[in-house]
Amino acid sequence: MGKNGKKQKNQNQNHRIRKDASYYLVDEEQQQQQTYPLTQPSNNNDDPSLTNSDDEEQESDNQNIESTVNDDSHLPSKFSLYQQSVQSPKGDISYLQMFFLTYIGGRAPLHLQEDFCGTALLSTEWLRSDSRRTSVGLDFDLDALDWCIENNVNKVGADLSSRIFLYHGNVLQPQEAKLVKNSLPNTMDNITLEETENDSEALPPRDIVCAFNFSCCCLHSRHELVTYFKHALNALSKKGGIFVMDLYGGTSSECELKMQRKFPNFTYTWEQAGFDIVQRKTRISLHYTLLNHQKKKLRHAFSYSWRLWSLPEIKDCMEEAGFRFVHFWIRQMPDSENIKSMEGFGSARDIKYEEVTSFQQQDSWNAYIVAVS
Ligand SMILES: C[S@@+](CC[C@H](N)C(=O)[O-])C[C@H]1O[C@@H](n2cnc3c(N)ncnc32)[C@H](O)[C@@H]1O
Repeated sequence: MGKNGKKQKNQNQNHRIRKDASYYLVDEEQQQQQTYPLTQPSNNNDDPSLTNSDDEEQESDNQNIESTVNDDSHLPSKFSLYQQSVQSPKGDISYLQMFFLTYIGGRAPLHLQEDFCGTALLSTEWLRSDSRRTSVGLDFDLDALDWCIENNVNKVGADLSSRIFLYHGNVLQPQEAKLVKNSLPNTMDNITLEETENDSEALPPRDIVCAFNFSCCCLHSRHELVTYFKHALNALSKKGGIFVMDLYGGTSSECELKMQRKFPNFTYTWEQAGFDIVQRKTRISLHYTLLNHQKKKLRHAFSYSWRLWSLPEIKDCMEEAGFRFVHFWIRQMPDSENIKSMEGFGSARDIKYEEVTSFQQQDSWNAYIVAVS
């Protein structure tokens, strides 16, 4: 899930850890809402609390557990830690459904494509509520996709796993993407991502395409962004569909920032390096400290080079790509200073997104951007 997929792949080939994801996972019913703006952590029952980032700094800062973790096969995978600390698929899915019914309507959304899917937790979750649903995931990190198959897909049963299609490739060239084979037989093994909908063997045209956890910030140029949006539009059903992405912002997002959350078995640190106002670029790193393993640290478990796009830039690029309408849904988040020292999430749990056409700058906000085909 790091942007530097090649480097990560090489590292992980030597140090891949296989671990039952459910070992650390908590009751999914308790993962209903998103909470924190910059990291979108899961809202599980861990009652995670934020600790002073100084606590983390007392630990040696230069130990990268990737170099030691292969000695100790019972350590959790970084992908498992990521899913627990960053993702909240049920919250995203309820918004996706609501957006679809609001802007398209007339039918239930059945077919989802999750671009930049990483371990495709959202795609897996999508299949649960309706046996007609399918999902497609696309990412260029093969280790994340392999981990997904072993730890997410192969554990949900044959009915669900036969309806998910994971592709390894670049979102800018989806026609080149290759299906990652599931261990279960799949009737559509040779289907490419961009088969036409007239082809009886094709994937069903998507009702919804999404790109979450600020993944569009991995695209740095306007040309790339417009190209990507064109591919997203192309994947959508001719009967109408939506593309949904998320974004964060606010005055606190344009400077260095470090926050920690404490889970029963690990702490999670989200670190934003300095912010370059000329290129609007920053580097995000996710670190973990394993509390049950002599506080071993997994430094830079994930690292992303991001361009922090503005909302109007995104809207312009979506329109240029051919989307007819663009809607903004925003929620103000608690000030970053409060969050650093806050126990649990307090009122952040209850903050809902609202559709806006204007919004005054805040310390911190999260947005869903919904583009209608
Ligand atoms: C911030 S992570 C998001 C993962 C997941 N969507 C989530 O919600 O947590 C960004 C993901 O995008 C992938 N990625 C970045 N650039 C990509 C590209 N051009 N094509 C395909 N995947 C890409 C990375 O491998 C990583 O898994």
